[in-house]
Amino acid sequence: KGDPRLKAISDAIRVMPDFPKPGIMFQDITTLVSNYKVFKDTVDIFVDRYRDKGISVVAGVEARGFIFAPAIALAIGAKFVPLRKPKKLPGKVISESYELEYGEDCLEMHVDAVQQGDRALVIDDLVATGGTLSAAIRLLERAGAEVVECACVIGIPEVKHKGTAEAIKLLNYLYPK
Ligand code: PRP
Repeated sequence: KGDPRLKAISDAIRVMPDFPKPGIMFQDITTLVSNYKVFKDTVDIFVDRYRDKGISVVAGVEARGFIFAPAIALAIGAKFVPLRKPKKLPGKVISESYELEYGEDCLEMHVDAVQQGDRALVIDDLVATGGTLSAAIRLLERAGAEVVECACVIGIPEVKHKGTAEAIKLLNYLYPK
């Protein structure tokens, strides 16, 4: 809002109609991250908001949250925790499933990845229904962390389904704000 960097960021996101299926307007962030200046501005905006907030964990959602979360974690001096799709993590995990348009999916986290008292930020590229972020919040809270906020580059506010209200109270996104 009023930040000239936001327009450049939104302009750098390529919208691909009918991918991966008819009717979906796919928000492609590969064109954002291939522009060094815009990628850096995107990370910097999050870093400015979250530095000095006592955040000890930046959790990234597989797969596209992994593109942004580690850069933010390094810059604010927090640990990075990957929230992964099922059966990828080798240690003891906790799982939370969430609804997709057809069927369901699941996120997993190592149980010992966070401790009681950790203050967590959840990062993903995009929020649509909020189902994915809601599962991420549940994982971190079950393991004893406090979720301070969720942040995404892209919000699709017209999509409202189960999970949105729960995630939205903590939600901050850059575009199309
Ligand atoms: C996309 C996106 C978010 C999620 C948002 O991931 O990167 O993680 O959907 O949708 P929601 O708010 O309705 O839950 P996708 O499921 O396509 O997985 P991928 O990044 O591994 O391709």
